[in-house]
Amino acid sequence: MTGLSGAGKTTIALILEEEIRQRGLKVERLDGDTVRESLTRDLGFSKEDREKNIERVTFVAKLLSRNGVVCICSFISPYQSIRDRVRAQTTNFIEVFVDAPLETVMERDVKGLYQKAIAGEIPNFTGISDPFEPPARPDIHVRTDLQTPLESAGHILGTLEDMGLIPPAKL
Ligand code: ADX
Repeated sequence: MTGLSGAGKTTIALILEEEIRQRGLKVERLDGDTVRESLTRDLGFSKEDREKNIERVTFVAKLLSRNGVVCICSFISPYQSIRDRVRAQTTNFIEVFVDAPLETVMERDVKGLYQKAIAGEIPNFTGISDPFEPPARPDIHVRTDLQTPLESAGHILGTLEDMGLIPPAKL
């Protein structure tokens, strides 16, 4: 899942995790905010460090997924070239664009980071002083300014079902 900070990646990922588990699959969730407190604690937000962040996550996700564990990865991952590399290196890679306009995420400013970034207190902040390259051809595109988290998650699950990647919901 790729998208600006505050677009709703984590919120939707939590719903997906629960729902996919309910369907009898093993599932793990890797999320930027938590992974950056452990596996990639040493990294910052330069292009090189963001690349290393995604590289390490890809390594872990590959280990999990080849053992039959669905892996939900929610990271800003702002660079198309890096997302394309992940796609090339993995099987069943589904790029989900969790999309909300910059004005919307700035208005939400759940963590208060946009305000700080605009004040110049956080350098290289995605969308403010650092790039975000919207996916050219995402496998799934959700608009969180127009849909509720449940609606976005429902759309993602439906598409994964249609692709034959997850079974339908149990009755
Ligand atoms: S990524 O670009 O390397 O994929 P990642 O998803 O792991 O980013 O981490 C993003 C989270 O780090 C944001 O949600 C935010 O809480 C925090 N953060 C701190 N500094 C920055 C920054 N300069 N740019 C973007 N996010 C930042």
